[in-house]
Amino acid sequence: MIDIRQGYENHLPRRVITGRGASDRLAEICQGRGWKRVFLVSDRGVESAGLLTRVAAPLADAGILAGQFVDVSPEPPLADVALLAEQIRSAAVDVVIGLGGGSVMDATKVAALVALRGGGPADYVGIGKAGGRGVPTILVPTTAGTGSEATFVAILTDTAAGTKVGVVDPSLLADIAIVDPALTDGLPPAVTAAAGMDALVHAIEAFIARVATPIARGLALEAARQIGPALERVCRDPGDQEARDRMAIGSHLAGMAFANSSCCAVHALALPLGGRFHIPHGVITGCFAGALMRHNAPACTADFAALGTALEWGALEPRAFADRLDATARDIGLRAALDRVVVPTADIAPMARDAANNRRLIDPNPVAVTAADAERIYRNVLNVAG
Ligand SMILES: [Fe+2]
Repeated sequence: MIDIRQGYENHLPRRVITGRGASDRLAEICQGRGWKRVFLVSDRGVESAGLLTRVAAPLADAGILAGQFVDVSPEPPLADVALLAEQIRSAAVDVVIGLGGGSVMDATKVAALVALRGGGPADYVGIGKAGGRGVPTILVPTTAGTGSEATFVAILTDTAAGTKVGVVDPSLLADIAIVDPALTDGLPPAVTAAAGMDALVHAIEAFIARVATPIARGLALEAARQIGPALERVCRDPGDQEARDRMAIGSHLAGMAFANSSCCAVHALALPLGGRFHIPHGVITGCFAGALMRHNAPACTADFAALGTALEWGALEPRAFADRLDATARDIGLRAALDRVVVPTADIAPMARDAANNRRLIDPNPVAVTAADAERIYRNVLNVAG
């Protein structure tokens, strides 16, 4: 863990409103802040699930909906975010609401910044480039997993370079995060499982990372307490509202935790694989968690016992903790989803190099991960052919 005598900073959303039905109060919340012109950002999936109308109609009835954009693509390209920023700027709004999963919230964060501060999204790629806050934002997640409403990171796609890029700056933190579990009630089972397991991995990695602050570790443990009894339950019974509630708050806490600590090697290995093959992020992180926690075992005996206790799995030995993660990935269908993807053996070494070179995610990992380690783990976990 970080040496607290050296000091550390924590960054959290300015205000968090939670509870079933909290998003029904959006118009009132905006009016309470004196925001009279509201811009709503979302995507077609949220629209077809009926959630866009549910949120937009009361804003329109209150006479404060000044514009909307519902064409955010997955892993939003920089050009789309530039277009969105232009629309926000020309609508001259007081606040931007991002309603959706990680892609919608990430696009909203950067577009709101660009709309006020000028330039283009590419100007803000990197760490600490914002130079101040953007148009105020309200982030409203419709999945329980990414935790993006709680973080100051946005992941976009540089289509020209063919890479994912990150905008990282505390100025991206939401003015208000609204965590309303009712918005997740209709999520398809595969999304519930992948996003939920990713939230669990965020909590674990935030807790064990070498850069974890005491606040992040507290948040991560509480995230584990919420997620542990709920993840398998909500995958078995999508109508279990109490489990939905726990997953929504758990993934939010896990997001705050890794924003103030770091994700680690599970995410380092997940990114090159997700970049090459279209596999849902949570399927990958869920299936690699066991193997990497086995790798981390020598440094994490006490931490895994604490996490196991929080998750209601018991104070497990490291090997049993890793086995339990593998069993969860199998039981909720993530293992079967990953097994359907055949990875050519020629891809393994380049992916392992990319993973090991990702210092941002490898350096915080409790045990060093070399390219050879990454290659061995890819071969163990993936369905490799050729
Ligand atoms: Fe993740």
